Amino acid sequence: MSRSISVLFVCLGNICRSPTAHAVFRSKVKEAGLQDQIVVDSAGTGSWHIGEPPDARSTEVAEQNGYDMSEIFARQVCTEDFDKFDYILAMDKENHNVLQRLKTESGSVILDYFMSFSKRTKRFDVPDPYFGTEGGFDHVLELIEGASDGLLDHVRQQLKPPF
Ligand code: 4NP
Repeated sequence: MSRSISVLFVCLGNICRSPTAHAVFRSKVKEAGLQDQIVVDSAGTGSWHIGEPPDARSTEVAEQNGYDMSEIFARQVCTEDFDKFDYILAMDKENHNVLQRLKTESGSVILDYFMSFSKRTKRFDVPDPYFGTEGGFDHVLELIEGASDGLLDHVRQQLKPPF
């Protein structure tokens, strides 16, 4: 049986950054033909937007760049996620801190910053575009595309047999 790897992207509201990462990464996974081996999901540390589709501004930029944001609805991260996922990847320090507190000692999950997988920049956060800062949604998409490429390379190595 072939191995599978699961990845959960986490931001604050699960309507801007993490659903964009979800859509971009699942598209790259599909393009690579690895959709049966890599499970992709997203969640928010906050509860305000549970059940909502992604923010219209994120969807517009994603669609302009060929990414499909359908079938993604906001949910809140929960402790079970730490048993279910191999990687939980935070969009910024605030969310990483919340996830670190939720993570139990026993969990084998890898908790990291999503941007740590990017080979295009040394910055570790994806800035929150919700209130309109730092080049906004286009900049977020560009950062996410870079980190997704690096993450796919990394996960592909993990899927290789050890001999
Ligand atoms: P996200 O952006 O964490 O990238 O989904 C935000 C969405 C909503 C809020 C903050 C950030 N909010 O305060 O409602």
